[in-house]
Amino acid sequence: MTTPTLSVEKYLGTNVHLLPQTDQLRALHTLIRDRNARREDFVLHSGRVIRRVIEAGLDLLPFEPYDVRTPVGATYPGLRLAAGLCGVPVLRAGESMETELRAVCPGIPIGKILIQRDPTTKLPRLYYTKLPGDIAERHVLLLDPMLATGGTATASIELLLEHGVRQSHLVFVNLITVPEGITAVCERFPEVRIVTSAIERRLNENAYMVPGIGDFGDRYFGTEG
Ligand code: URA
Repeated sequence: MTTPTLSVEKYLGTNVHLLPQTDQLRALHTLIRDRNARREDFVLHSGRVIRRVIEAGLDLLPFEPYDVRTPVGATYPGLRLAAGLCGVPVLRAGESMETELRAVCPGIPIGKILIQRDPTTKLPRLYYTKLPGDIAERHVLLLDPMLATGGTATASIELLLEHGVRQSHLVFVNLITVPEGITAVCERFPEVRIVTSAIERRLNENAYMVPGIGDFGDRYFGTEG
């Protein structure tokens, strides 16, 4: 499937928050896109990029005033994340992001969604879901490193909306996407925000992103071949 590149300009800065394309970020992407990368390097450096998109996702959430006393006895008029956050990784690849989210937000409630494409119908099929009972009141970081055709993403978002989550309370945190995936999510869910570190050129005939990263889950969990 070689598709013409869709323009996503109109979504940038509003629906889609693309990390600044610094040389450091490009260097990290170089390490993880290299087909000869060792698995331990892939896990290490993809984790470093994932940490960055998670931090950028947290930037979009509400904060509340929280003053602290500093070691010199002064008051720092600070902020802290407002209560009512949760993370929802889309299994299996999203588990890589759960690890990084837990590292920066220890104690955060974590839901789970397992959606896979049915090999016969080619449609996303829900296999498992477990979400916090009060998820409708929460801000949700939906975690999936790959946003390609948008099939799994739109099915996951639909599921969260059915559980009462507001679109405006949903941030889709992603490592790599492609115009087709952005368009699929943004057209259907105009209030959902996407944070990503790279927008690829296109999808190939096997629905892999190009230049891309290959099968993220297989490379991360060591199940290639
Ligand atoms: N999933 C992946 O792991 N890689 C892609 O390029 C697309 C979907």
